[in-house]
Amino acid sequence: MERIGIGFIGSRFAAELHAHALSRIRGTKCEIMAVCSRTKESAEAFARKFNIPHAYTDHRAMLERKDIHLVDLPVTTNLHHTMAIDAANAGKYIVCEKPLTGCFTEADALSRQAMFEEAMRNADAVLEACRRNRVSLGYAENFVYAPPVAKLRRLMDASGGTLLDLRAEESHSGSHAAYSRRWATAGGGSLLRMGSHPIGAVIHLKHYEGQRKFGKPIRVKSVLADVAQLTKTEAVRKEPRKWLVGEWEDVEDWSAAILTFEDGTKATVMSTDVSLGGVKNLVTAYFSNSVVQVNINPNTSLVVYAPDGTIWGDEYLSEKVETKGGWQFPSPDEDWMRGYPQEMEDFVDAVREVREPLSGALLAHETVEVIYAAYVSAQEGRRVDLKR
Ligand SMILES: NC(=O)c1ccc[n+]([C@@H]2O[C@H](COP(=O)([O-])OP(=O)(O)OC[C@H]3O[C@@H](n4cnc5c(N)ncnc54)[C@H](OP(=O)(O)O)[C@@H]3O)[C@@H](O)[C@H]2O)c1
Repeated sequence: MERIGIGFIGSRFAAELHAHALSRIRGTKCEIMAVCSRTKESAEAFARKFNIPHAYTDHRAMLERKDIHLVDLPVTTNLHHTMAIDAANAGKYIVCEKPLTGCFTEADALSRQAMFEEAMRNADAVLEACRRNRVSLGYAENFVYAPPVAKLRRLMDASGGTLLDLRAEESHSGSHAAYSRRWATAGGGSLLRMGSHPIGAVIHLKHYEGQRKFGKPIRVKSVLADVAQLTKTEAVRKEPRKWLVGEWEDVEDWSAAILTFEDGTKATVMSTDVSLGGVKNLVTAYFSNSVVQVNINPNTSLVVYAPDGTIWGDEYLSEKVETKGGWQFPSPDEDWMRGYPQEMEDFVDAVREVREPLSGALLAHETVEVIYAAYVSAQEGRRVDLKR
C-alpha cells in the first residue's frame, strides 16, 4: 500500500500524542482521513487543529470509509476491545493504546479471579477478531520504541549476556483524568494504568531475548504482587496540604509485582501514584555480563536551574513536576525520548510492508494477563501460575 489512510477514535490527551507523532510522516507514508469522538465539539476541534478532513461521533459510520486502512484507538480503556473488534470486522488494521483491555466493573463487584477471566475473554476476543479478519494489531507501548530501550536491545545483542534481573517503574503523583478514579472506567489503578508500561517493557525484553537466542519468546510463568491505597491512610488524610492526587474511589495507588519467566529469571515492577518529583519511566537490566540502565524520565540530557520556577514562564519542562524551580531535568524532545514518533512510524510501516510491528498482539495480550494475575495474587496472597 502506498499511503495509509488513518482514522482516529478519541481526540484528547493520547490522541494528541499520536497526531503529533504522525506529523513527520503525514503526506508521504500516511494521511489522517477522519477522527471520531464521543462529542461533536471534541471531534471537530481536533479535526481543525490537525487539519483532518472528516469528523464523526459514530465510530461505525467512520469505519465504513474505504480510504481508512488503519484505525487508531486513543480512546478510554473500557472501549478498546469492542472498538478494536469493530475495526477488525470492518477489515481495518489496528493501533490500540495501552492497556489492550481489562475488566470494567466496580472493584467489589467481582473477585479478582473472575476479573482475570473477564479480562482474558476480552483480550482473546480482540486477537481472534484480528486473526479472523487477517489484520494485525499495533500495541502502542511506547517504552518498546523509546531510544534508550532500542539501545538496550542492541547492547543485549552485542553482549550475548543472559537477562537475569529486570527492575522497571512508572510512577508519579497521580493522574488528573476523571476516568482513572474508578475501576468501572479504568479497569484498575496504578498497576494497570501505569504499570502496563514497565510490565510491557520487561515482557518485551524477555520476548526479544528468547526470539533472538531460541527462536521463540521467553514468556512470564508466574506473578507475585501486592497493591495498596496509600493516600487513604489516616496520617495522609490528616495532613492539611495535599501534594498527591487523593481522589481515588476504588482503585489502588501503589503496586509492586515480581514476575518469574519461563527460564527462571525475574523482573520486579513498581507503579505508584505516590511519587513526587515528576514522572519516572525507568528500566534497569542486570545481565550475566553487564548492566544497562534506561532513564526515559528523568534523564540528564538537559539539566537546568532557576531559583524561582516563574523564570521559565510558560515553557514546558517535564510531566508532573510540582515546581519548575530548583534543578530540573527537561528532555529536549520528550515525545521522541518516550518513543511516540517511532511507534507510530513502525505501525504505519508494518501495514505498508505487510509485517508484524515490533510491539504487537502477543505483548498486548500477555501484559493484560500478567496484570490481572497480579491482582489475583494481591487479593489471595499467593503466587499465581499462568497457563502455558
Ligand atoms: N501511551 C501513553 O503514554 C498514554 C498516555 C495517556 C493515555 N494513554 C491511554 O490512551 C487512552 C486514552 O486516554 P486519554 O488520557 O487520552 O483519555 P481522555 O483524555 O479522557 O480522552 C478519551 C477520548 O475518548 C473519546 N471517547 C469516549 N467515548 C467515546 C466513544 N463512545 N466514541 C468515540 N470516542 C469516545 C473521548 O471523546 P470526547 O473528547 O468527545 O469526550 C476522548 O476524546 C487510555 O487507554 C490510556 O490508557 C496512553
